[in-house]
Formats: sequence, structure tokens, C-alpha cells
Amino acid sequence: MNRKRDLLGLAELERGEIEHLLDSAGVFKAVLERPIPKVPTLRGQTVANLFFESSTRTRISFELAEKRLSADVVNFSAGGSSVSKGETLLDTARNVQAMQIDAIVIRHSSAGAPHFLARHLDAAVINAGDGAHEHPTQALLDLFTMREHKGRIAGLRVAIVGDIEHSRVARSNLWGLSKLGAEVTVCGPATLLPVEIERLGCRVTTRLEEAIEGVDVIMALRIQLERQRQGRLPSLREYARLYGLTRERVALAGSEVMIMHPGPINRGIEITQEVADGPFSVILEQVTHGVAVRMAALFRASGFDPGALGEGEAAEAEAGETEAAEGESKTEKTVEAAATPRAKLRAQAAVERLAHPLAAGVPGGRIHD
Ligand code: CP
Repeated sequence: MNRKRDLLGLAELERGEIEHLLDSAGVFKAVLERPIPKVPTLRGQTVANLFFESSTRTRISFELAEKRLSADVVNFSAGGSSVSKGETLLDTARNVQAMQIDAIVIRHSSAGAPHFLARHLDAAVINAGDGAHEHPTQALLDLFTMREHKGRIAGLRVAIVGDIEHSRVARSNLWGLSKLGAEVTVCGPATLLPVEIERLGCRVTTRLEEAIEGVDVIMALRIQLERQRQGRLPSLREYARLYGLTRERVALAGSEVMIMHPGPINRGIEITQEVADGPFSVILEQVTHGVAVRMAALFRASGFDPGALGEGEAAEAEAGETEAAEGESKTEKTVEAAATPRAKLRAQAAVERLAHPLAAGVPGGRIHD
């Protein structure tokens, strides 16, 4: 990729950058609704998905997003890899990068693992969930889904319910929602509420009814069954009785309430079957939007910017852009003139980025950070 643009968390992003990512996701959503839902934006680029922790939604949607953008994709799971022989995270990532990888998507159980890699790698790093720290693309797809339904984020009243302490989804949403001007209440048993969480700009309560009365959005979090051995809850049955989202409780919220959940769901614990599959649920829509949002994140990571390229490549790419506007035959000459195969691919990608219909759909003529 041309200029390293990591996406490590929403804590690091300005409000305008978050909005720009959501706008780009809107353009990619339109691409995904076409008969042929694919663009050549990342042709010639290679992305590695490094998953050191289990995943269904994030992993599949990143891979799909990469393929929809025409990137080459390689997948890595810790199970069956040389991690079992004691290879370190950094050695693993450096070896992957040595195979000419442009961007790395990483999920890891240790908070800060993506930030650590970002400091040591030339490849762009995208955080697909690090411990209990952040899950930025999940929060972006949540924000995107809210904006699609409500037309705005500012002023929305949002309740986040469940195991706040261990939730990277809650943390990223708190950053994103507060930066975009929503009013957030977090709710859960006192044993699952981090100390001083209100410093992130939210209201805090242990009473579910108080949290959800009149809200526009209720986001239920997964009770992390693997954590319950720590004795934070008397029992799952008691949690369901006090904090489970039931039809009666949801009726306390606004009549247009959105029910969200990042998945995977524990049916009958944090949410009942009828609420999860009911008329207010947007849970599967969140998953659908995940692909467009991850396309936007990958596009941002590609950071195409002629000013940041090596001199020869920059000139080629710039010439390619000019010639793209002038006509295809000249464009072909620019790509042919590229000094190396890699430079050729980049020049080609630059040309296609401008030429493909996606660029025309963006205010200002092209998607560019
Ligand atoms: N929401 C989410 O991160 O789901 P996966 O663990 O299945 O990726």
C-alpha cells in the first residue's frame, strides 16, 4: 500500500475521520448492491488476516471486503501455525510481511497487540479486536447502522447493556458515539462495570429499566461465558432475570427503538429469542454493513497519496492519474512505462481508482483522505 494508514482504535480518530469512514462505507454499500459487487480498487495489493482468536463475522467480512476490492488475500490462524512451536507475534508478523504484504488485519487476545505491530511493521495494521481494548470496525459498523436508520448520530440516546468491563465493542462504541455527539448510558451489574467508566463521557447505571427508558438504540453485549469462572455473576439465570432484553423491557424504549448486538448471541441470556429475531432487531443488518465498513477501512489503509510514494512511483502514479482523465490509451502507456512490476501494479491501481464508477459517486470526484 502506498502510505501506511493504521486503524488501531476509535480513541485515536478525530470526529471528521470517523465521519469520513462512514461516508466511504456508504459508497461501498452502494457498490455491494450492484449486480457485480466488486471494484478494482486494491488490485495488486495483498492483505493478510492474522487471527489469533476465534471469529466468524469479523474474519469472513474482512475477507469478503478484501475480495470485493480485488486485493489478494492470505489467511492465518494461530492453530496449526508455528505459534505452537513458540514463534513470537512479532516474528510471525515480520515473516508474513516479508512475503510482500501491504496490510495486516489482526485479532489478538492481548490488548495493544495491533499497536505493537504498527510500531514495528511497514505494512498498514488494522485492529480486528484486541483483548478487552478496542474493536474499531465493529463500532464503525454499529455507527453506520444507526446512521442509516436514524439519519444522524448526534443527539441519539443509546443504552449499552451487559459486560462493559470486558467489552472491546463497548469501549470502541463509547469513543465513537461520544465523538459524534450521542448520549450514551452504560448498564450492567456493578461487578461488570469498570471503575470510572463515566470518564469516557457516558452515564452509568445498574438498573436496566432506567437505562433503556425512552432510548433510540439498545445495544446488548454478549455475556462472555468464558469469563464467568471469575465469579463476577452469581449465575447466568440471575443475569438473564435482571438484565436480559425481553419484549416487555424493550417496550420501555422509544417506539422506533433499534435492537443491536455485535454477536455471537447467547439466546435466552442477554437477549430473548423473540427480541433477537423481532421487528426492532437490526442484528443481521449490522453484519451486512460490516463488509462495506471494512472495505472503507481497507481503502483508508491503502492511503493512496502520490506525495508519499518513492519518487519514481509517485511520478508514474501521478502521470497515470492525469492520463486516466485524458483517455485509456495514454493510461496504458503510463502503466507500461512503470519501472518495476510492483510500480506498474500501483500505477494501474491508481488509474483504475480514478476511472471506476466508485470514484464518480463520491463528492469531489474521488474517495481520498
Ligand atoms: N462481532 C464480532 O466480532 O464477532 P466475531 O467474534 O464472530 O468476529
